[in-house]
Amino acid sequence: MKHLIAPSLLSADFMNLRQEVEMINRSEADWLHLDIMDGVFVPNISFGFPVLEGLKPICQKPMDVHLMIVEPGKFVREVAQAGAYMMNVHYEACTHLHRTVAAIKEAGMKAGVTLNPHTPVSLLEDIIQDVDMVLLMSVNPGYGGQKFIEHSVEKTRALRDMITRKGLDTLIEIDGGVNLETGKRLLEAGADILVAGSFVFKAPNPEEVIHKLKTL
Ligand code: DX5
Ligand code: ZN
Repeated sequence: MKHLIAPSLLSADFMNLRQEVEMINRSEADWLHLDIMDGVFVPNISFGFPVLEGLKPICQKPMDVHLMIVEPGKFVREVAQAGAYMMNVHYEACTHLHRTVAAIKEAGMKAGVTLNPHTPVSLLEDIIQDVDMVLLMSVNPGYGGQKFIEHSVEKTRALRDMITRKGLDTLIEIDGGVNLETGKRLLEAGADILVAGSFVFKAPNPEEVIHKLKTL
């Protein structure tokens, strides 16, 4: 599969969100990545469901929603209602992950499970057959523009090996510190989707950066 690019809106100009989303619509981006934070699971607060609802009629790319909140299973209905294509919940935030994954799929969305940098891929052994995507954090979640954690390349390879060994078609998405250099190594290690926030939105020409990521 040709890899996908999911720019993260977290680094966009929030006073000009419409123009930013229109730029994404024109670009070669495959998905739009949306980071929801609660100030409890992560030490920051971003935006919530009213913003997703506002984006719904404007955004022409599938919405890849990354919930950095405690008990994300409580909000399956809201995320589905807001038009999400993929709902990513953190492994560390779900006591009954199997139940939450089933609820996400029942609500008509794809189910993604996210791992913090310290959470080993091996913990997915008994759930990976039920999920559509695994999102590996290559920074500690909470902020854009952080330094890429090197170990993420090895972790991507380990996850790719698990998926191959089990004969699954689970997607691998990587989030945090992605640029042309780290992106290339992640794709070589087996990533399918690259999230990029500051590298895209802080660039003078974001559309060109998306094109470059797309042609890696
Ligand atoms: C961080 C978010 C990321 C963030 C990535 O908690 O999950 O999606 O926007 O930002 P960059 O690409 O700047 O590291
Ligand atoms: Zn994210």
